[in-house]
Amino acid sequence: MDQARMNDLITASINLGGLSQDDIARIIQFRVFGNRRGFLLLENMPIGAVPDTPLSRDSINKKDVRSEMLLLQATALLGDPIGYIQESEGSLINNFFPHPSQARKMSSDSFDTELDLHTENAFHAVQPDYLVLLCLRQDPGEEAVTYVASIDNILDKLEPADIHYFAHEQYNFLSDYCKREKNCRIDINKRQPVLYGDIAAPYFRFDPYFMVASSHQAQTKLAMLRDLAWQAAEPLRLRAGNLLIIDNRKTAHARSAFSARFDGTDRWIQRTFAVCNRRFLVEKLGTRSQVFELVANL
Ligand SMILES: [Fe+2]
Repeated sequence: MDQARMNDLITASINLGGLSQDDIARIIQFRVFGNRRGFLLLENMPIGAVPDTPLSRDSINKKDVRSEMLLLQATALLGDPIGYIQESEGSLINNFFPHPSQARKMSSDSFDTELDLHTENAFHAVQPDYLVLLCLRQDPGEEAVTYVASIDNILDKLEPADIHYFAHEQYNFLSDYCKREKNCRIDINKRQPVLYGDIAAPYFRFDPYFMVASSHQAQTKLAMLRDLAWQAAEPLRLRAGNLLIIDNRKTAHARSAFSARFDGTDRWIQRTFAVCNRRFLVEKLGTRSQVFELVANL
């Protein structure tokens, strides 16, 4: 979709996206004050008519745009929608469903990065502040579980000395952006601590598979933190019409494995990313573009 058409759709979504006044108030409340769990779940949202789950992005034939409008309305309440060139060619709305080619790979030794708790794009200088997920269709076996672990809940399990450690120890966050293959690990010299911001109520960045520790101690601490994050993780089974807003500065998320049938009934999720600092990004990068290549530093 070109920018002019996307802007028309965003405008229509703001005016008539389908959120009730109560939903709007809850989303603004979440943006302004946050909450301890680091997510907001709204149920029974109007998503319109959902065709059979496609098998490829090229075969998405979705005429009813109520779900896209709902997603964009929620996103606009949180900030500005952004995309990344490396994900769905920069599309502001990403569609997720099982692909037959991936199912074959799952049986080999490939690694699904969604399976472990992670903060989205932790290596990227343009990090999404929020992930907005809209479930169009639950998997028929109801196996798929989304997990959200908030730093507020993890901090309860950490000693003050460990909180201090994670606010200072520099881990090397690797990038998974490469053209030829998925799940590559590229060193972009992005050394940063796990906890940042106001140490009394810190932000969280975490992606163990893509983090390189500089010492045995740092590696051991990272493994401990991963265990604690999983202990704090809340399981959610998204159903059709569930809108899940995840605070990407305060949480890590993951998804379980689930089965696919490739018969039109598979799980289908739509997602956007929202940033709250668009003007800062325009100033630093000198472009209004909402679609980003790799930005290592600002
Ligand atoms: Fe993710």
